[in-house]
Amino acid sequence: MLVKNILRHTITRVTGPDRKFQLVPFLRDNDIYNLAELYHENSKLTFGLEREMQRGVSLFSRPDSQDVYSKILPSFPTLNSIKLPTDFAVKEQIDKTILNRSSIRKFKKIKLSKNKLSKLLYWSCGVIRALKFKNKTANEIDDVYLRSYASGGALFPCDTYVIAINLENVSRGLYFYNTKSHSLDFIKRLEIEDIYKLITKGMLNLINVGDASALIVITSNFSRTKLKYSLRSYRFALLECGHIAQNFYLMASALKLGCVELGGFYDYEVDELLSLDGVDNSVLDVLVVGEPASQKSEPVKLSHINFNLKYGKSHGEV
Ligand SMILES: Cc1cc2nc3c(=O)[nH]c(=O)nc-3n(C[C@H](O)[C@H](O)[C@H](O)COP(=O)(O)O)c2cc1C
Repeated sequence: MLVKNILRHTITRVTGPDRKFQLVPFLRDNDIYNLAELYHENSKLTFGLEREMQRGVSLFSRPDSQDVYSKILPSFPTLNSIKLPTDFAVKEQIDKTILNRSSIRKFKKIKLSKNKLSKLLYWSCGVIRALKFKNKTANEIDDVYLRSYASGGALFPCDTYVIAINLENVSRGLYFYNTKSHSLDFIKRLEIEDIYKLITKGMLNLINVGDASALIVITSNFSRTKLKYSLRSYRFALLECGHIAQNFYLMASALKLGCVELGGFYDYEVDELLSLDGVDNSVLDVLVVGEPASQKSEPVKLSHINFNLKYGKSHGEV
Protein backbone atom coordinates (compact mmCIF):
# COMPACT_ATOMS: atom_id res chain seq x y z
CA MET A 1 0.00 0.00 0.00
CA LEU A 2 2.82 2.36 0.94
CA VAL A 3 4.69 1.60 -2.30
CA LYS A 4 1.49 2.18 -4.27
CA ASN A 5 0.84 5.53 -2.60
CA ILE A 6 4.40 6.66 -3.27
CA LEU A 7 4.01 5.54 -6.89
CA ARG A 8 0.71 7.34 -7.33
CA HIS A 9 2.05 10.48 -5.67
CA THR A 10 5.19 10.43 -7.82
CA ILE A 11 3.18 9.87 -10.98
CA THR A 12 0.98 12.89 -10.35
CA ARG A 13 4.04 15.01 -9.55
CA VAL A 14 6.20 14.08 -12.51
CA THR A 15 3.65 13.68 -15.30
CA GLY A 16 3.74 16.28 -18.03
CA PRO A 17 5.26 16.67 -21.47
CA ASP A 18 8.69 17.65 -20.13
CA ARG A 19 9.24 14.40 -18.28
CA LYS A 20 12.37 12.81 -19.68
CA PHE A 21 13.22 9.95 -17.37
CA GLN A 22 11.82 6.68 -16.11
CA LEU A 23 9.96 6.98 -12.85
CA VAL A 24 12.56 4.78 -11.18
CA PRO A 25 15.68 5.26 -13.34
CA PHE A 26 17.99 3.52 -10.90
CA LEU A 27 16.12 0.28 -11.49
CA ARG A 28 16.44 0.39 -15.27
CA ASP A 29 18.77 -1.90 -17.21
CA ASN A 30 20.34 -3.18 -14.07
CA ASP A 31 20.72 -6.95 -14.03
CA ILE A 32 20.37 -7.31 -10.30
CA TYR A 33 17.30 -5.14 -9.97
CA ASN A 34 15.73 -5.75 -13.35
CA LEU A 35 12.07 -5.32 -12.56
CA ALA A 36 10.83 -7.51 -15.40
CA GLU A 37 13.01 -10.42 -14.30
CA LEU A 38 12.04 -9.92 -10.69
CA TYR A 39 8.39 -9.84 -11.58
CA HIS A 40 8.62 -12.89 -13.84
CA GLU A 41 10.43 -14.85 -11.15
CA ASN A 42 7.96 -13.85 -8.46
CA SER A 43 4.92 -14.69 -10.52
CA LYS A 44 6.05 -18.26 -11.29
CA LEU A 45 3.54 -20.70 -9.88
CA THR A 46 5.08 -22.25 -6.79
CA PHE A 47 3.29 -24.08 -3.98
CA GLY A 48 3.48 -20.83 -1.96
CA LEU A 49 1.87 -18.72 -4.66
CA GLU A 50 -0.66 -21.46 -5.33
CA ARG A 51 -1.72 -21.30 -1.65
CA GLU A 52 -2.09 -17.53 -1.92
CA MET A 53 -4.10 -17.89 -5.11
CA GLN A 54 -6.36 -20.47 -3.48
CA ARG A 55 -7.15 -17.87 -0.81
CA GLY A 56 -8.07 -15.45 -3.58
CA VAL A 57 -10.17 -18.04 -5.41
CA SER A 58 -12.05 -18.89 -2.20
CA LEU A 59 -12.69 -15.16 -1.60
CA PHE A 60 -14.36 -15.12 -4.97
CA SER A 61 -16.69 -17.94 -4.07
CA ARG A 62 -18.00 -15.97 -1.07
CA PRO A 63 -21.45 -14.61 -1.79
CA ASP A 64 -20.50 -10.96 -1.17
CA SER A 65 -17.68 -10.99 -3.70
CA GLN A 66 -19.89 -12.18 -6.54
CA ASP A 67 -20.83 -8.54 -7.05
CA VAL A 68 -17.54 -8.05 -8.85
CA TYR A 69 -19.14 -9.48 -11.98
CA SER A 70 -21.81 -6.83 -12.04
CA LYS A 71 -19.20 -4.08 -11.55
CA ILE A 72 -17.10 -5.12 -14.49
CA LEU A 73 -17.94 -2.17 -16.72
CA PRO A 74 -16.90 1.33 -15.72
CA SER A 75 -19.61 3.88 -16.27
CA PHE A 76 -19.27 7.38 -17.64
CA PRO A 77 -21.74 10.16 -17.05
CA THR A 78 -22.46 10.59 -20.73
CA LEU A 79 -25.50 11.95 -22.46
CA ASN A 80 -24.15 10.99 -25.80
CA SER A 81 -23.98 7.27 -26.41
CA ILE A 82 -23.78 6.17 -30.03
CA LYS A 83 -25.56 2.88 -30.69
CA LEU A 84 -23.67 0.77 -33.20
CA PRO A 85 -25.38 -1.30 -35.92
CA THR A 86 -26.07 -4.94 -35.14
CA ASP A 87 -25.48 -6.58 -38.50
CA PHE A 88 -22.46 -8.64 -37.53
CA ALA A 89 -22.17 -10.84 -40.64
CA VAL A 90 -18.62 -11.32 -41.93
CA LYS A 91 -17.98 -13.91 -44.60
CA GLU A 92 -14.31 -14.67 -44.60
CA GLN A 93 -12.58 -17.94 -43.96
CA ILE A 94 -10.32 -18.08 -40.93
CA ASP A 95 -7.32 -19.48 -42.86
CA LYS A 96 -7.50 -16.67 -45.48
CA THR A 97 -8.00 -14.11 -42.72
CA ILE A 98 -4.82 -15.20 -40.97
CA LEU A 99 -2.92 -15.49 -44.23
CA ASN A 100 -3.83 -11.93 -45.28
CA ARG A 101 -3.13 -10.37 -41.89
CA SER A 102 -0.21 -7.99 -41.90
CA SER A 103 0.72 -4.67 -40.33
CA ILE A 104 -0.46 -1.77 -42.51
CA ARG A 105 0.99 1.69 -41.88
CA LYS A 106 -0.37 3.80 -44.73
CA PHE A 107 -4.03 4.77 -44.70
CA LYS A 108 -6.46 6.41 -47.12
CA LYS A 109 -8.30 9.41 -45.66
CA ILE A 110 -11.86 8.21 -46.05
CA LYS A 111 -14.38 7.88 -43.27
CA LEU A 112 -14.78 4.35 -41.98
CA SER A 113 -18.44 3.29 -42.07
CA LYS A 114 -20.26 2.66 -38.81
CA ASN A 115 -21.10 -0.80 -40.13
CA LYS A 116 -17.45 -1.81 -40.45
CA LEU A 117 -16.53 -0.18 -37.16
CA SER A 118 -19.32 -2.07 -35.47
CA LYS A 119 -18.15 -5.43 -36.83
CA LEU A 120 -14.54 -4.65 -35.98
CA LEU A 121 -15.36 -3.85 -32.36
CA TYR A 122 -17.96 -6.54 -31.86
CA TRP A 123 -15.85 -9.48 -33.05
CA SER A 124 -12.65 -8.15 -31.49
CA CYS A 125 -13.94 -7.51 -27.98
CA GLY A 126 -17.75 -7.52 -27.88
CA VAL A 127 -20.16 -9.56 -25.77
CA ILE A 128 -20.99 -12.76 -27.61
CA ARG A 129 -22.93 -14.68 -24.94
CA ALA A 130 -24.28 -14.39 -21.43
CA LEU A 131 -24.18 -16.94 -18.61
CA LYS A 132 -26.58 -17.04 -15.69
CA PHE A 133 -25.23 -17.29 -12.16
CA LYS A 134 -26.85 -17.11 -8.78
CA ASN A 135 -25.98 -14.00 -6.79
CA LYS A 136 -26.41 -15.35 -3.27
CA THR A 137 -26.22 -11.90 -1.60
CA ALA A 138 -29.07 -10.43 -3.55
CA ASN A 139 -30.69 -13.83 -3.99
CA GLU A 140 -31.08 -13.11 -7.68
CA ILE A 141 -29.95 -14.58 -10.94
CA ASP A 142 -27.39 -12.31 -12.62
CA ASP A 143 -25.87 -12.43 -16.07
CA VAL A 144 -22.14 -12.80 -16.69
CA TYR A 145 -21.35 -11.36 -20.08
CA LEU A 146 -18.75 -13.31 -22.00
CA ARG A 147 -16.79 -11.74 -24.81
CA SER A 148 -15.07 -12.73 -28.06
CA TYR A 149 -11.82 -13.49 -26.19
CA ALA A 150 -10.84 -15.58 -23.19
CA SER A 151 -10.39 -13.99 -19.77
CA GLY A 152 -9.00 -15.56 -16.58
CA GLY A 153 -11.98 -16.21 -14.26
CA ALA A 154 -14.21 -14.27 -16.72
CA LEU A 155 -13.23 -11.11 -14.84
CA PHE A 156 -12.37 -9.13 -17.99
CA PRO A 157 -9.86 -6.63 -16.59
CA CYS A 158 -9.29 -5.10 -20.04
CA ASP A 159 -11.37 -2.28 -21.51
CA THR A 160 -11.35 -0.82 -25.00
CA TYR A 161 -11.48 2.87 -25.86
CA VAL A 162 -11.84 4.29 -29.35
CA ILE A 163 -10.13 7.52 -30.40
CA ALA A 164 -12.19 8.51 -33.42
CA ILE A 165 -10.19 10.22 -36.16
CA ASN A 166 -12.09 9.70 -39.44
CA LEU A 167 -15.33 7.85 -38.71
CA GLU A 168 -18.68 8.18 -40.42
CA ASN A 169 -21.20 10.01 -38.22
CA VAL A 170 -18.90 9.87 -35.20
CA SER A 171 -17.14 13.13 -34.41
CA ARG A 172 -13.46 13.23 -33.55
CA GLY A 173 -12.96 12.41 -29.92
CA LEU A 174 -12.53 9.86 -27.18
CA TYR A 175 -15.13 7.13 -26.66
CA PHE A 176 -15.46 4.10 -24.41
CA TYR A 177 -16.60 0.93 -26.18
CA ASN A 178 -19.46 -0.24 -24.00
CA THR A 179 -19.49 -3.99 -24.61
CA LYS A 180 -22.79 -4.56 -22.84
CA SER A 181 -24.80 -2.11 -24.94
CA HIS A 182 -22.57 -2.34 -28.04
CA SER A 183 -22.28 1.41 -28.19
CA LEU A 184 -19.67 4.15 -28.07
CA ASP A 185 -19.94 6.21 -24.90
CA PHE A 186 -18.71 9.72 -25.68
CA ILE A 187 -16.10 11.01 -23.22
CA LYS A 188 -14.58 14.12 -24.81
CA ARG A 189 -13.86 15.93 -28.07
CA LEU A 190 -10.28 15.88 -29.33
CA GLU A 191 -8.24 17.82 -31.87
CA ILE A 192 -5.83 15.94 -34.11
CA GLU A 193 -2.92 17.57 -32.20
CA ASP A 194 -4.18 15.97 -28.97
CA ILE A 195 -3.91 12.61 -30.71
CA TYR A 196 -0.44 13.24 -32.19
CA LYS A 197 0.84 14.02 -28.68
CA LEU A 198 0.22 10.40 -27.67
CA ILE A 199 2.59 8.93 -30.24
CA THR A 200 6.37 9.10 -30.72
CA LYS A 201 7.74 11.22 -33.59
CA GLY A 202 9.32 8.12 -35.13
CA MET A 203 5.97 6.38 -35.37
CA LEU A 204 4.23 9.53 -36.68
CA ASN A 205 6.80 9.61 -39.50
CA LEU A 206 6.12 5.97 -40.31
CA ILE A 207 2.33 5.90 -39.93
CA ASN A 208 0.00 8.61 -41.32
CA VAL A 209 -2.19 8.58 -38.21
CA GLY A 210 -4.18 11.66 -39.34
CA ASP A 211 -5.52 9.64 -42.30
CA ALA A 212 -6.41 6.58 -40.21
CA SER A 213 -9.94 5.89 -38.98
CA ALA A 214 -9.26 5.41 -35.29
CA LEU A 215 -6.89 4.45 -32.54
CA ILE A 216 -7.95 1.49 -30.46
CA VAL A 217 -6.69 1.80 -26.89
CA ILE A 218 -6.68 -1.30 -24.68
CA THR A 219 -6.41 -0.64 -20.96
CA SER A 220 -6.48 -2.85 -17.91
CA ASN A 221 -8.06 -2.40 -14.54
CA PHE A 222 -5.61 -4.50 -12.53
CA SER A 223 -7.68 -4.38 -9.36
CA ARG A 224 -10.40 -6.45 -11.04
CA THR A 225 -8.24 -9.58 -11.02
CA LYS A 226 -5.58 -8.97 -8.39
CA LEU A 227 -7.66 -10.21 -5.50
CA LYS A 228 -8.19 -13.54 -7.20
CA TYR A 229 -4.92 -14.19 -9.04
CA SER A 230 -2.37 -12.38 -6.89
CA LEU A 231 0.99 -11.93 -8.63
CA ARG A 232 -0.10 -13.85 -11.71
CA SER A 233 -2.89 -11.36 -12.41
CA TYR A 234 -0.54 -8.95 -14.20
CA ARG A 235 0.57 -11.73 -16.55
CA PHE A 236 -3.09 -12.52 -17.19
CA ALA A 237 -3.86 -8.89 -18.01
CA LEU A 238 -1.04 -8.73 -20.57
CA LEU A 239 -2.06 -12.06 -22.08
CA GLU A 240 -5.68 -10.96 -22.34
CA CYS A 241 -4.64 -7.73 -24.00
CA GLY A 242 -2.69 -9.78 -26.56
CA HIS A 243 -5.81 -11.86 -27.30
CA ILE A 244 -7.80 -8.68 -27.95
CA ALA A 245 -5.09 -7.13 -30.12
CA GLN A 246 -4.88 -10.26 -32.27
CA ASN A 247 -8.67 -10.20 -32.67
CA PHE A 248 -8.39 -6.63 -33.97
CA TYR A 249 -5.68 -7.64 -36.44
CA LEU A 250 -7.74 -10.59 -37.68
CA MET A 251 -11.00 -8.66 -37.93
CA ALA A 252 -9.20 -5.86 -39.79
CA SER A 253 -7.89 -8.48 -42.20
CA ALA A 254 -11.36 -10.01 -42.66
CA LEU A 255 -12.91 -6.56 -43.26
CA LYS A 256 -10.09 -5.52 -45.66
CA LEU A 257 -8.97 -2.80 -43.27
CA GLY A 258 -5.45 -1.83 -42.34
CA CYS A 259 -4.19 -2.31 -38.80
CA VAL A 260 -0.91 -1.82 -36.98
CA GLU A 261 -0.09 -2.31 -33.34
CA LEU A 262 1.76 0.62 -31.85
CA GLY A 263 4.44 0.04 -29.23
CA GLY A 264 5.49 3.66 -29.65
CA PHE A 265 2.93 5.48 -27.53
CA TYR A 266 3.48 7.59 -24.40
CA ASP A 267 1.87 5.75 -21.48
CA TYR A 268 1.56 8.78 -19.20
CA GLU A 269 -0.07 10.91 -21.86
CA VAL A 270 -2.57 8.19 -22.83
CA ASP A 271 -3.47 7.51 -19.18
CA GLU A 272 -3.94 11.22 -18.59
CA LEU A 273 -6.21 11.57 -21.62
CA LEU A 274 -8.32 8.62 -20.46
CA SER A 275 -8.31 9.88 -16.84
CA LEU A 276 -6.73 6.63 -15.63
CA ASP A 277 -4.56 6.74 -12.51
CA GLY A 278 -1.79 4.72 -14.18
CA VAL A 279 -1.44 2.45 -11.14
CA ASP A 280 -4.65 0.43 -10.71
CA ASN A 281 -5.79 1.24 -14.20
CA SER A 282 -3.48 1.87 -17.11
CA VAL A 283 -3.08 1.68 -20.88
CA LEU A 284 -1.48 -1.52 -22.21
CA ASP A 285 -1.75 -1.27 -25.96
CA VAL A 286 -2.65 1.00 -28.86
CA LEU A 287 -3.58 -0.04 -32.40
CA VAL A 288 -4.13 2.13 -35.46
CA VAL A 289 -6.92 1.02 -37.83
CA GLY A 290 -8.16 2.47 -41.08
CA GLU A 291 -8.84 2.06 -44.76
CA PRO A 292 -5.54 0.90 -46.29
CA ALA A 293 -3.88 3.32 -48.76
CA SER A 294 -3.51 0.52 -51.27
CA GLN A 295 -5.20 -2.82 -51.31
CA LYS A 296 -2.62 -5.26 -49.98
CA SER A 297 -0.85 -6.07 -53.27
CA GLU A 298 -3.01 -9.15 -53.83
CA PRO A 299 -4.54 -11.60 -51.42
CA VAL A 300 -1.93 -14.11 -50.38
CA LYS A 301 -2.65 -17.61 -51.61
CA LEU A 302 -1.63 -20.70 -49.69
CA SER A 303 0.16 -22.03 -52.75
CA HIS A 304 2.38 -18.91 -52.72
CA ILE A 305 4.04 -20.04 -49.55
CA ASN A 306 7.18 -21.98 -50.10
CA PHE A 307 7.74 -23.78 -46.86
CA ASN A 308 11.37 -24.38 -47.78
CA LEU A 309 12.04 -20.65 -47.79
CA LYS A 310 13.97 -19.50 -44.79
CA TYR A 311 12.75 -15.90 -44.98
CA GLY A 312 9.35 -14.80 -46.23
CA LYS A 313 8.45 -11.49 -47.87
CA SER A 314 6.75 -8.88 -45.72
CA HIS A 315 4.09 -6.36 -46.83
CA GLY A 316 5.67 -3.54 -44.92
CA GLU A 317 8.42 -2.44 -42.64
CA VAL A 318 9.67 -4.48 -39.75
C1 LIG B 1 3.64 -5.54 -29.25
C2 LIG B 1 3.85 -5.02 -30.64
C3 LIG B 1 4.26 -3.71 -30.82
C4 LIG B 1 4.43 -3.19 -32.11
N1 LIG B 1 4.79 -1.88 -32.24
C5 LIG B 1 4.91 -1.35 -33.48
C6 LIG B 1 5.20 0.04 -33.64
O1 LIG B 1 5.33 0.79 -32.67
N2 LIG B 1 5.31 0.53 -34.89
C7 LIG B 1 5.15 -0.26 -36.00
O2 LIG B 1 5.26 0.26 -37.10
N3 LIG B 1 4.86 -1.58 -35.88
C8 LIG B 1 4.72 -2.14 -34.66
N4 LIG B 1 4.38 -3.48 -34.51
C9 LIG B 1 4.15 -4.31 -35.70
C10 LIG B 1 5.36 -5.18 -36.03
O3 LIG B 1 6.39 -4.41 -36.54
C11 LIG B 1 4.91 -6.24 -37.05
O4 LIG B 1 3.93 -7.06 -36.48
C12 LIG B 1 6.07 -7.12 -37.50
O5 LIG B 1 6.97 -6.37 -38.27
C13 LIG B 1 5.60 -8.31 -38.33
O6 LIG B 1 4.91 -7.87 -39.50
P1 LIG B 1 3.39 -8.25 -39.80
O7 LIG B 1 2.55 -7.82 -38.62
O8 LIG B 1 3.03 -7.51 -41.07
O9 LIG B 1 3.34 -9.73 -39.98
C14 LIG B 1 4.22 -4.01 -33.25
C15 LIG B 1 3.82 -5.34 -33.05
C16 LIG B 1 3.63 -5.84 -31.77
C17 LIG B 1 3.17 -7.26 -31.60
